[in-house]
Amino acid sequence: MSQARGGRLPAGVAEAMEALNTSVHIDQALWREDIQGSIAHARGLVRAGILSQAEGEQLVDGLGHIAQEIEQGRLAWDPKNEDVHMNIEARLITALDGLGRKLHTGRSRNDQVATDLRLWARRKSQEARGAIAELAEVLVDVAERELDTLMPSYTHLQRAQPSRLSHHLMAWQELLRRDAARLADAERRLNECPLGAGAVAGTGFLLDRHATAADLGFDGPMRNSLDATASRDFLMELSSGLAILGVHLSRIGEEIVLWSTQEFGFMALSDGFSTSSSMMPQKKNPDVAELVRGKSAVLVGCATTLLVLEKSLAFGYGRDLQEDKRPIFDAFDAALTSLRALTGAIGTARFDRDRLEGALGGGHVCATDLADYLVLQGLPFRDAHHVVGDLVRQAEQAGVQLGGLSTEALAAAHPSLSAPEVRDALDPRRAVERRLVFGGPARERVAEAIAEARQHWASRAQRAPGPV
Ligand code: ARG
Repeated sequence: MSQARGGRLPAGVAEAMEALNTSVHIDQALWREDIQGSIAHARGLVRAGILSQAEGEQLVDGLGHIAQEIEQGRLAWDPKNEDVHMNIEARLITALDGLGRKLHTGRSRNDQVATDLRLWARRKSQEARGAIAELAEVLVDVAERELDTLMPSYTHLQRAQPSRLSHHLMAWQELLRRDAARLADAERRLNECPLGAGAVAGTGFLLDRHATAADLGFDGPMRNSLDATASRDFLMELSSGLAILGVHLSRIGEEIVLWSTQEFGFMALSDGFSTSSSMMPQKKNPDVAELVRGKSAVLVGCATTLLVLEKSLAFGYGRDLQEDKRPIFDAFDAALTSLRALTGAIGTARFDRDRLEGALGGGHVCATDLADYLVLQGLPFRDAHHVVGDLVRQAEQAGVQLGGLSTEALAAAHPSLSAPEVRDALDPRRAVERRLVFGGPARERVAEAIAEARQHWASRAQRAPGPV
């Protein structure tokens, strides 16, 4: 029977209740943080004069031994002890008997679990930021390698304007910057300590909550005992941040799927990141990208679960909150797995320069450039747009690109289009390099963006809480 029963509730838990009640099969993942929190609490009890120095040392020692046991897989988790907290406490009581029974003084599982979760979430979020940084750095590496590879940019998935592959990859990298910043931002807000808040209304034992918070690396104690035990918005924030990351990865995944088709043929994944078919021997499938796309559904689902879990929940703690573990564990798991697989897939993929650059030969991608040329000759842009639109229609009818129209046809549309420089406007290679505006795809600008991004990620390579 668990430590929380026997007094008020002498009978054991009904069998049908046990399956619902027990969470140790899931929350045992919090064991490191639970022991860390218990050690800090034991020290706090000593500081408050509730335990002697010697008792405190014995408890800390005992908890250290349990940590080793768990690490070596020697602790037998017992579902009858409900959760990770009671399992560890039960083990401590077996080891230290009377002294073990003193640890829970001035503490409730409500402030205990809230503390464990914040410690765990802080660690995992840092790990996720590290994985984001690794993917971003691979993108920057590939962008640098492919700096001279041109390709069209797309809107509506239709060829739009001349661009370069590195510019596209650097756009992916920008999303990841904001994803990492969102996590770092949530980390700063969650870094407060619930311990000492008790079940709901604090405790009459005058624990030095500031000292305990500092002991666990928190910025300070949570200011309100009700809020400390009943609020999980830090999980909503992290899971929402991970859901956004998931949606971003799904967009990257979708492009990898498209680009790996025979129709696009822009890239080929390495064998290590491809799969075959059980039936069709010729198949090489981009499953990595599809799975990453699929994991975004898990991530959105986890965020939704955590939002709904707390909706309309009266203050303080309600047992509903036990259901917060699986979604946040699943979310970090899905995010980390996706990030690492994508990092490997992109780092080992081959890009087909001929196919990428070949795509500039269709879609009249220099139409805007031709209109811009007319603007430089004094035409208002709207008129130039009209003239070029008309030329595109003629070209389509003739089955050629804009550049394939005869000089006579161009001159007929507007006299200044007979000049030889018009051919420059229609050359996609020149058109890309004219896009020198800040944030544009000209070689010079992208090279600068790459250098700047390298610095950005280098200063964030350390996984500790740092600059957003
Ligand atoms: N396993 C519980 C949870 O994860 C711990 C808190 C239990 N508190 C309680 N009052 N029954 O939320």
